[in-house]
Order: sequence, then C-alpha cells, then structure tokens
Amino acid sequence: MRVSATLPDFPWDLLEPAKAVAAGHPDGIVDLSIGTPVDPVPAVVREALCAAADAPGYPLTAGTPAVRSAIRRWVARACGATFDDIGVLPTIGSKELVGGLPAQLGLGAGDVVVIPPVCYPTYEVGARLTGAKVMRADSLVSLGPATNIKLIWVNSPANPSGRVLPPAHLRKVVDWARERGAVVASDECYLTLGWEVEPTSILSPSVNGGSLDGLLAVHSLSKRSNLAGYRAGFVAGDPALVGELLAVRKHAGMIVPQPVQAAMVAALDDETSATEQRTRYAARRGVLREALEKAGFAISHSEAGLYLWASRDEDCWSTVEHLAQLGILVAPGTFYGPTGERHVRVALTATDERIAAAAERLASAA
Ligand SMILES: Cc1ncc(COP(=O)(O)O)c(C=O)c1O
Repeated sequence: MRVSATLPDFPWDLLEPAKAVAAGHPDGIVDLSIGTPVDPVPAVVREALCAAADAPGYPLTAGTPAVRSAIRRWVARACGATFDDIGVLPTIGSKELVGGLPAQLGLGAGDVVVIPPVCYPTYEVGARLTGAKVMRADSLVSLGPATNIKLIWVNSPANPSGRVLPPAHLRKVVDWARERGAVVASDECYLTLGWEVEPTSILSPSVNGGSLDGLLAVHSLSKRSNLAGYRAGFVAGDPALVGELLAVRKHAGMIVPQPVQAAMVAALDDETSATEQRTRYAARRGVLREALEKAGFAISHSEAGLYLWASRDEDCWSTVEHLAQLGILVAPGTFYGPTGERHVRVALTATDERIAAAAERLASAA
C-alpha cells in the first residue's frame, strides 16, 4: 500500500531546476518561493521557551490553562470572538491540523470537501488522505446540487492570491453550510496581515450571527511571530467540534511540546513584536510591488497576506524561468490549482537586503 501514490506530486521538487538556475546568479539567489520567515524570533518568546525548558513530564493535549487563556484573549482581541464557551486547542503548527482535519472529523469515501479554486495544497491532501472527494469552488452556487458536502475550507486572506473575503461573503458560506450540516473551517493564518483592507474572522459575530455552530478558525504563529520553527498554532470555534478534535488528538498523541506552549503564551500576549514584524513586511511589499509593476507585471488581489500574486500574462512556468534567469525564485501558480496557470506567487519573506537585490535586478531587466 502506498498512500503517497494517492496524493498530488510534491510540488516543490518540480521547482529544483529553476532553483539551480537562480542559484547561478553571481550575487546569489533571492528565494521568494517558500514563505518561510527570516527575521528573528522575538526575545520575549525565546526567553519564555528557555524558562520552560525543564519539562520532564507529558504536556496536556488541551494545552496549559495559561495557553488556553492566552488564545482566548487573543481571539477576543484580534477576531472579535467574545464567546464565553469558545473551544480552543493548541496545534503543532497549523499544517498538521489542515492535513489531519478531515480524518479527525471522521470524513471518508463518499464525502466531499470544498476548497478554493487556487489554494494552499494541504486542504486537498487532507481530504485525499481520507478518500473524500475534493471540489474546487469559489461560489457555492457553482457547487450545484452536490450532496455529502461535509467540510468547506475558506482562506481569507488567501494564500496564494492575497484575496480577502468580505464579511457578507463569509456570512453566506456560514449560512449555506449550516443549512446542510457541513463544517466551515476558516484558515486565518494571515488575518493580521491586511494591507489595503481589514480582514474579518469567521469568529466575528458580524459573520457568524453570534453563534459558533459548525465553525472552526485555524490560526498560526508561524508568520505573525516568526515561530515557523517552533510549530505553534491553534484552532478555535464550536466547543463541540473542538472537544471532538481534542478527544481524537489525545488518543493520537498530537501534543504541543510544553516549552512551545509557554512560548505561545508570550507570543500571543506580545503585540509589539507582531506589529514590528508587520511593519517589516509592509516595507518589503512596497518595494517588491513597485519593482514588479515597473517590470511589467500585473498584481492581482494581494490586498493582504504574505505574497504578491503576479502575472506577465503568460504561462506561469515561463515567468518562473524568466525570473530564475535574474536569480529570483518564485512559485508557479499551478502549485495552488489549475486556474493559477498565468500567475506566480512572490513571497515577502526575505531580508531587506535580498528584497532590495530583487528590486534592482527587476529594474535592470525592465
Ligand atoms: C494558508 C496556509 N495555511 C496554513 C499554513 C501552515 O502554516 P504553519 O503550519 O506554519 O502554521 C500555511 C503555511 O504557509 C498557509 O499558507
């Protein structure tokens, strides 16, 4: 039995030839492909991790009381979620939850998972691991009479497009899902990175009408607090659903390490370093956006999040090749879905020096 055979090709392997070309640039590669943070972990978070380093016993899957209340405080502040009974659960980064959610909710063959037309590939992987069918759709109308829809993923601000769904759109998804008994999982890991619009959480009463029924919000500290290496995320929402996830995850040993739980408390309570990081990304975004536009790229959406969704109105692999010749590596849009074929995703996660180098190279080629 080869489970991997049921999964899509691992896309990053396909980028290796372009990476080799970009790495040949005399001033080195500017890697804007994978959105991996490059700035330091905030000192207050490192100190909290170290202070909790003596952790000989098993941690709680549910999280310490301290991390549970830090999550509650944060979702009240950042998402407008002022529900006394909100379910919260720390996760080992958010990717494992995205990949495991359909299984942990008990989905299987015959069930349908709805995902956006271009999106983070792990939504599809999680569904395929259970044998569930995937439908890519932006508008629920386009789903037709499909039954057996058990889970709907939304991602606003979106990876890769940076699109933000307005509250009215989210509200429609919630109403539609509730009528059919489907769960809405809202991946909000870029929620705090709104540039031209203020993204709204599914946990906001303006979207959910004051009820958490059937709703899960997935959050990550990877980008907000540069904690990708710690693996720190959480899920919050419908207490019954979160309780079920806890029950399953306790059995499966899906536990966030104790020192990471302590680091999460420090990170969630620290808005200062999150604002500093946001400011860095805003500056990089400004430089890259201008350079790309002057070099003839059109930028679509990208009103929020960690990427510029850029197009030269040609096949995305031609754009990847063109930029690799300049020593700049980006991700082709088809990694995220067939309709991404004329775009590339340009990440803002490189040092100021590398972003400046990219801008210079684009200017010299324009
Ligand atoms: C949309 C989206 N969801 C989830 C993740 C996973 O993030 P992490 O596992 O670091 O929390 C990413 C990572 O890039 C992402 O882009």
